[in-house]
Amino acid sequence: TRTSSSGLRTPIVAVLGHVDHGKTSLLDKIRGSAVIEGEAGAITQHIGATAVPLDTVSRVAGSLVDPDDFDLPGLLFIDTPGHHSFTTLRSRGGALADIAILVVDVTDGFQPQTIEAINILQDSSTPFVVAANKIDTVAGWNPREDSPVQQTYDAQSDRARSRLDERLYELIGELSDHGFSADLYWRVQDFQKNVGVVPVSAMTGEGVPDLLTVLMGLSQRYMKDAMEIDVAGPGAGTVLEVKDEKGFGATVDVVLYDGTVREDETIVVGGTQEPIVTDVRALLQPRPLAEIRAESRFDRVDEVGAAAGLKIAAPDLEEAMAGAPVRVVRDRDIDDVVGEVEAELAEVEVSTEEEGVVVKADTLGSLEAMANALKEAEIPVMRAEVGDIAPRDISIASTADEPIHRTILGFNVEVLGDANRSAEESEVKVFRDDVIYQLVEEYDEFVEDSRR
Ligand code: GTP
Ligand code: MG
Repeated sequence: TRTSSSGLRTPIVAVLGHVDHGKTSLLDKIRGSAVIEGEAGAITQHIGATAVPLDTVSRVAGSLVDPDDFDLPGLLFIDTPGHHSFTTLRSRGGALADIAILVVDVTDGFQPQTIEAINILQDSSTPFVVAANKIDTVAGWNPREDSPVQQTYDAQSDRARSRLDERLYELIGELSDHGFSADLYWRVQDFQKNVGVVPVSAMTGEGVPDLLTVLMGLSQRYMKDAMEIDVAGPGAGTVLEVKDEKGFGATVDVVLYDGTVREDETIVVGGTQEPIVTDVRALLQPRPLAEIRAESRFDRVDEVGAAAGLKIAAPDLEEAMAGAPVRVVRDRDIDDVVGEVEAELAEVEVSTEEEGVVVKADTLGSLEAMANALKEAEIPVMRAEVGDIAPRDISIASTADEPIHRTILGFNVEVLGDANRSAEESEVKVFRDDVIYQLVEEYDEFVEDSRR
């Protein structure tokens, strides 16, 4: 029998930004503040994610958040390491994340991955706030641990305050250069029109109460309808990573955004060749205190409900694809669910032409983002696939008529085995980068040079 019970799930918050700008530290701080507030047990560590319940948000945020004003259950944060492509964070019809924090080091300002992140947020229409991090590094800063930003701001010397102002305005200018009208968050009236900038320090905790308040407020106000799900329905999620795990073989790290998944259930997972139909052998969650993405030991659980991060162990996951959909079959027809997964994969299929470049990317989401960028730059694509660069790709690229198309653009991928040598032999040029717009720029420069 089918049970349908509608409820509100936790909004999924992606934490994005350039390497070392403080994404993980910010999450550590949120966790740490909760521990200090005596809420250690309430924060749950998921695979690749951290769940912070509303009570904890409101305790950390102090007087800024009254839990009675909210009915969403809390926030689920997904950390995305700088070297890892957060373009994986896709789901049915768009972005996996409901909302995002773009972390920018106030001193360092906009950097390549900041720009990359902002391009993707724009493409996927994901609402976001900017955490202007490391305000404690401003010369002469006098920290007030864990305090709301206006209190700490008022307590600074005029010089320290104006040094911070300068950097914040520079940041607001950079946001504007990239097409976003932004302002300090307390001046923003309409968060759908303007991006709020929250000055924070992941080190001292200053501004963290404000950040949580803004996120909670934004989700409640703009996301609530989208958070309404059938909480007991068959689960839907996205593969973050495919990983070999001792004792389990190939496993997938998944963010579940709808329904539930249970041990022994049949699931369909998007694969590099075709959808994989398999049975869940184990659902794994990190043991308490295990590190994000470095967890070595797991707890087995019988059932997991959205929104959550988890690891699924099942046979035949070797060919699973990062960024691809995961669906629980339950009381539906397997073929229907396979069809659903195929349809979702087809959405991402890049329109290709007879003549053009070959594109390889590490995940489905990054392939999609590459395709968008190439289309914008009017660069034709002959073939686009997820995976490392193999000799076969070189042969395909070498069939292009024009020399400027005898190229492979690889995003976040390796060059396998003999591919380098065969590239040299067949005069195929290989470009690789881990920032999409830089990859496109490199290619554009090459095209210009070859026209001289
Ligand atoms: P990746 O995962 O590699 O992309 O980096 P990240 O964005 O997660 O940065 P991480 O949190 O690892 O911080 C990078 C460095 O900046 C560490 O040495 C932190 O201690 C430091 N850091 C982060 N936030 C702050 C801050 O608010 N103030 C100061 N002074 N240092 C900070
Ligand atoms: Mg990190």
